[in-house]
Amino acid sequence: MTDYSTSMRTDRCGDLRIDDVDRQVTLCGWVDRRREHGEHLAFIDLRDRSGVVQLVVDGAQDLRSEYVLQVSGIVRERPADTANDSLDTGAVEIDAAEVTVLSVAEPPPFPIDERTEVDEVLRLRHRYVDLRRPRLQRNLKVRAQVNSAVRSAMEEQGFLEVETPMLIASTPEGARDFVVPSRKEPGSFYALPQSPQIFKQLCMVGGVDRYYQIARCLRDEDLRSDRQFEFMQLDAEASFVSQDDVLAFISHAVLAVTEAVTGEQLGEIPRMSWHEAQERFGSDKPDVRFGMELVELTEVFAATEFRAFQAPCIKGIRVPGGADASRSQLDDLTEQCKLWGAKGLVWMRVTDKGLESPVAKFLTDGEQVRLSSTLDAEEGDLLLLVADERRMVRHILGLLRLELGRPPVTEGGLNFLWVVDFPLFEGLDDVGNPISAHHPFTMPHEDDLEVLDRGDLLDVRSQAYDLVLNGWELGSGSVRIHRSDIQEKIFSILGIGSTEAHAKFGFLLDAFRYGAPPHAGFAFGLDRLTAILAGEENIREVIAYPKTQSGADPLTSAPTPIDDRHLKELGLRVLPPAE
Ligand code: AMO
Ligand code: AMP
Repeated sequence: MTDYSTSMRTDRCGDLRIDDVDRQVTLCGWVDRRREHGEHLAFIDLRDRSGVVQLVVDGAQDLRSEYVLQVSGIVRERPADTANDSLDTGAVEIDAAEVTVLSVAEPPPFPIDERTEVDEVLRLRHRYVDLRRPRLQRNLKVRAQVNSAVRSAMEEQGFLEVETPMLIASTPEGARDFVVPSRKEPGSFYALPQSPQIFKQLCMVGGVDRYYQIARCLRDEDLRSDRQFEFMQLDAEASFVSQDDVLAFISHAVLAVTEAVTGEQLGEIPRMSWHEAQERFGSDKPDVRFGMELVELTEVFAATEFRAFQAPCIKGIRVPGGADASRSQLDDLTEQCKLWGAKGLVWMRVTDKGLESPVAKFLTDGEQVRLSSTLDAEEGDLLLLVADERRMVRHILGLLRLELGRPPVTEGGLNFLWVVDFPLFEGLDDVGNPISAHHPFTMPHEDDLEVLDRGDLLDVRSQAYDLVLNGWELGSGSVRIHRSDIQEKIFSILGIGSTEAHAKFGFLLDAFRYGAPPHAGFAFGLDRLTAILAGEENIREVIAYPKTQSGADPLTSAPTPIDDRHLKELGLRVLPPAE
């Protein structure tokens, strides 16, 4: 056990137990709560990181909430009728003979206990007070456990920790770069890394073999519950490995982390192809904690007279017990689907008299029977159907499924899932060039190399894989291209001309000419993993000093303007805000 004694204290508040009775102790901490007891005595709960313990003090002393105290006294057993079973230290109290006020405190801007909901901006402005509250104390501890377990798991597997720079040229992860102006070269800028991607690949050329890093990454993108400007990745890369090897390394790491935090030993992480994930869940990050899967209905309506269903693809979902949804709720759902891009939404209530829906009259009896049996419909269910291009149908029903069925983060256990065989390109940009689904260094699937030359580029599979946890994308990785000829070809397909490719990534292409081993890697978000393990819906709750949704830090007021002298030194001039 760790020895917490220092020159100022003998013990921590939360560690004292019945075995400590009669010991003389010195404690330090914050006044958590004070209750008067008769005319001359007061009870004080003294709090430090380990918990609270009750002090009995002279009631005349001016000891207020959040004062910092040093207290010496004897540990006493509490009288049987006053023991507090809900508290680890509830069997004892400290008969405080000597109390020194180390710091006085103004009344805190919000209560430390969690009975009151506090505005988030206020919490972030006084984050140092917020950090004292049980939720953040607990979450920071989970976070430290995650980091520590992940480090051990990677080192056990022979990965070497290498640090990569923060001031770099741009990395192609698809978000906007944060940039830092150069004073030595006015007009030139460093980019902050969106990930260590290029450096870890260079490490492979450099013979590092198995690299890892708990890496800080920066991306200038719109913030959401699972996104911050700066975040942490467990970043890894290895040489002479296949996709299966990487999946094994990373599975070992996340399962070790899960066990360290929850004590639970999960089995092997299942795999699903990207195509299956899209067909069954309408998502590349399926939340498999619940059913309501997308069911194929195209065949059922192959010869339909109903115009809206004369489409390339029809799928539906069954909402168990959903038939009691009101008309206005169903209208809202339809409007929501239209905002997502659908042409419409067909709903049907399954009743004892059959399917009840404004469009039932357009469907034949045979269609209605086959629809019900294909969806396994039972009385009381709600059926929701979308007809459109296949991609759109999957997209809409995937979102609808989450909207209607997704459990809270704390329910349904931990469902890790590998999604494999991602497409190489996720679509086309405005000028018709394909967009990398992962990043341009991803190796095409060996069987699809020929499709690259002749065929539909969107059909080319890649050797890219994602790790999904309860519907969150936890991480991504791929087998990389290690041959400069294939890399140049991909750049050219992406519309990155040879001049541009050499200007941006010439150093990588050069490196590949000097003996690049086959290599592959992965990175997963430590903030996201920690949030789910801590039962939090928002990664801000597991970050000590996060930014608000709008990207500000209410504590330090960042971002702030800089003074003219500093601007001049950097060769910068600030334009007035655009109209
Ligand atoms: P990718 O861009 O998919 O891959 O990022 C990997 C993981 O990092 C986390 N993440 C974030 N977490 C919080 N806030 C953000 N803004 C944010 N952006 C990403 C996610 C995500 O799954 N270099 C590649 C990995 C590789 O190929 O090895 C990469 O960065 O959990
Ligand atoms: P309409 O023929 O546009 O009046 O639509 C009749 C019903 O079918 C309405 O309830 C629409 O919301 C629905 N609908 C229309 N197009 C589609 C579609 N592509 N997929 C599912 N439902 C649709």
